[in-house]
Amino acid sequence: MRIDIISILPELFTGPLTNSIVQRAMEKKIVEINIHPLRNYGMGAYKQVDDYPYGAGGGMVMRCEPLAACIEELLQKNSYDEIIYTTPDGEMFDQPMANQLSMKKNILLICGHYKGIDQRIRDKYVTREISIGSYVLSGGEIPAAVICDAIIRLIPGAISDEMSALSDSFQDGLLAPPVYTRPEEWNGMKVPEILLSGDEKKIADWRLEQSIEITKKRRPDLLSD
Ligand code: ADE
Repeated sequence: MRIDIISILPELFTGPLTNSIVQRAMEKKIVEINIHPLRNYGMGAYKQVDDYPYGAGGGMVMRCEPLAACIEELLQKNSYDEIIYTTPDGEMFDQPMANQLSMKKNILLICGHYKGIDQRIRDKYVTREISIGSYVLSGGEIPAAVICDAIIRLIPGAISDEMSALSDSFQDGLLAPPVYTRPEEWNGMKVPEILLSGDEKKIADWRLEQSIEITKKRRPDLLSD
């Protein structure tokens, strides 16, 4: 998979994309991530990328020209399965969407700032608008990093124990059951007997029961359909 990211704050990706599973996936050439600093396409001596909104209202809007110049340059070399804009007014990111995106070959992510990007860029280029939650962050970089992390770990080979991605919360529409490791007893609290029984069928049934109970309690919305 190839992921291109357009951002005015490329340094925000250092950390989220240079550690752990994502970093290993890059080293194994499972994924290639290229970050394109939008400022390089900015206008005039100050490399301006934003301007005041028409019709008043507070805040600034990211201008068309720098974004279009960067996107057009990328489109000359690549074709994209999805051009994604991260925005609080997008469709909600969830595990099924992560699964879907993890099967794509080429993705372009556009990170917004201020009041967002000029609508005409959305109309002309963007194929998918994604929100990571019902709150407003300072920019689209953290959402883009969240989306990258969630999809890269699902690409075969990214996680050594592939079963572990399959048993994550949400993969079967339920929250994950509790997990335990050694010691068997800690601070007077014991690991549930059934997990020590070696009976795979009983353990699987117990995990499913726990998942259903936890989901009912914390996320009943997941059970409604
Ligand atoms: N940009 C700012 N807030 C965001 C959010 N919640 N999701 C996606 N992009 C955003």
